[in-house]
Amino acid sequence: MSNPRIPRPFFCGNWKLWGTLSDSVALATGVRDAVASVTTADVAVAPGFVALDAVAGKLKGSAVAVASQDGYWEEKGAFTGEVAMVQIADCGASYAIVGHSERRQYFGETDETVARKAKAALAAGLVPILCIGETLPERDAGQALTVVGKQLDGTTANLRDDELAKSVIAYEPVWAIGTGRVATPAQAQEVHALIRSKLVHKLQARAQQVRILYGGSVKPNNVAELMKEKDIDGALVGGASLTVDSFASIVQKGVAACTRS
Ligand code: 13P
Repeated sequence: MSNPRIPRPFFCGNWKLWGTLSDSVALATGVRDAVASVTTADVAVAPGFVALDAVAGKLKGSAVAVASQDGYWEEKGAFTGEVAMVQIADCGASYAIVGHSERRQYFGETDETVARKAKAALAAGLVPILCIGETLPERDAGQALTVVGKQLDGTTANLRDDELAKSVIAYEPVWAIGTGRVATPAQAQEVHALIRSKLVHKLQARAQQVRILYGGSVKPNNVAELMKEKDIDGALVGGASLTVDSFASIVQKGVAACTRS
């Protein structure tokens, strides 16, 4: 007999800047059908904004949820080009990725703006997927834990305990994103354990319910060893989420690896 893992594993595909509307709908429906039999994990996909509504419509009533890749904290006003968290929720999304390292690197996101976005996501009824992670120079300088700890503190500073308890944290070392260079399970677990311990400090027992995802070159052939680690509760997947076969395989292998007997 196997016991369900706590917290419930979560696998989210981040499609980044990819695909036409029809590409997005086709990939979403393919994922929906391929993971229909998965009952022991949560699954989501994060299409580009222009496909959010159509993808959410196709996935309505299925086991696959929808995430945005970003979102703004104001609800309306003179903020040309921005998309409000309330608009994202209105499309039928359940999650909002905030603070992805590509947003920090190319679009000037800071811990402070990420914190505001996370708060606004929660206020709109969305679950924020808060991304944190160190760069290669920071890791090489032995600062990975310090940097990640500071980012976690900064991005969650204005969240109430009940808001933090329902958030998802994604550890994505920048040097592992899109590089094919995955963190070893031990490297990832070391950082996840730090994140968990900081959550325990704030939330006590409730910290065990918070999903801490790993992201950075997750593939079907490395997800199982990552998921065996105690504090790795799922994956945020970029490149390998762009085909039905590889993403479904990640979900299935990930689920199989973390089912405790
Ligand atoms: P890759 O899986 O392509 O390395 O991207 C990870 C990521 O950035 C997910 O948000």
